[in-house]
Amino acid sequence: MDINFVIPCLLGVESFIADEMRSLDAENVIAENGRVLFSGDEHILARANICSRFSERIQVLIGSFEARSFEELFQGTKNLPWEQWIGSLDAFPVKGYSINSALFSVSDCQSIIKKAVVERLKSKYGIEWFEETGPVHQIQFSIMKDRVSLLLDTSGAGLHKRGYRLEANDAPIKETLAATLCAIARLKPYHTLYDPMCGSGTILIEGAMLAHNIAPGLKRRFSAERWDVIPREVWGEERERAKSLIIRDSEFEAYGSDIDSSALEIACQNAARAGVKSKIRFEKKDIKDFSIFTEKGTVICNPPYGERLLDIEQAQRLYKIMGQKFEPARGRAYYIISPSEEFERDFGRKADKRRKLYNGMIKCQVYMYYK
Ligand SMILES: C[S@@+](CC[C@H](N)C(=O)[O-])C[C@H]1O[C@@H](n2cnc3c(N)ncnc32)[C@H](O)[C@@H]1O
Repeated sequence: MDINFVIPCLLGVESFIADEMRSLDAENVIAENGRVLFSGDEHILARANICSRFSERIQVLIGSFEARSFEELFQGTKNLPWEQWIGSLDAFPVKGYSINSALFSVSDCQSIIKKAVVERLKSKYGIEWFEETGPVHQIQFSIMKDRVSLLLDTSGAGLHKRGYRLEANDAPIKETLAATLCAIARLKPYHTLYDPMCGSGTILIEGAMLAHNIAPGLKRRFSAERWDVIPREVWGEERERAKSLIIRDSEFEAYGSDIDSSALEIACQNAARAGVKSKIRFEKKDIKDFSIFTEKGTVICNPPYGERLLDIEQAQRLYKIMGQKFEPARGRAYYIISPSEEFERDFGRKADKRRKLYNGMIKCQVYMYYK
């Protein structure tokens, strides 16, 4: 089966996802602003879900067309081969968004698309009523400048949900973003990783999984696993493939510290569930007592941002301490994600490189020090 895929992504992550999809043997990979397109078969569908570290979800592109009226939207939707994916008992809810388009009422578009899919399936299956008691096939639409894209979500829960984080501390970084930071730092199996404000340990856990090539989706399930069109054995084969690629004998080690001991307990449990506990040592420590004690070291961290004025002053004081502790030296590199435009001033040095990255809706910079 030849399938076209779309991965919606936050600005700044596209090139990582595109490279990742190429490395998974996806074809015709194109990175656009805010999304990555590629093609492949049902193995690529399962592989992308199981193996992608940076993607939020994997969608099948059913079709796209121009529409400026409800009639055009209805006919365009009805012309697509929905029956190739959706069975007569399956559930097919619809959601989506519209930006800069003549068809701006999302709820109207939603019900027209639903009606059009029902009409198509009625004519294909020869039935009048759809029970929708079967597996969920979430239809997602996007209308941008009058161009409609109709997609089916294959992932279900967002792919940042790896299955290891059962408990959350106050401000955990999203797993996909933590993995992206590790990729920006070009983390390798022979590196030593430090996070001196590790909270629930997400950066260290994602770093260890990346260094050992542990597929992040090995321990969870996906929506499309229940779909009839994807043979069951495809998922088993792809899980086996991913397991066979795990690097088992690496020198990688990681050190996490934080002043909050309850966060460290959670971090420990998360690392155990992720299968990387033996690679990470956790210790209660204030950043002011931090030092890299191995010959080489890569620090990746997301310090508290500070939202109220008092918090901002505290965050600035922390940035200053970090500037003193994160000394420039051969074999050492520091990657800090922060929304503060004044970070370099507080830290005390200009970054060797900066990269814009979104933490949810918050525009941040990754400040990189490696010289
Ligand atoms: C934004 S959170 C980090 C979240 C973490 N990346 C995660 O995934 O859970 C910032 C962390 O900095 C820690 N922190 C604040 N002040 C600190 C200090 N002086 N020394 C060490 N850690 C500190 C907090 O306890 C908190 O866990």
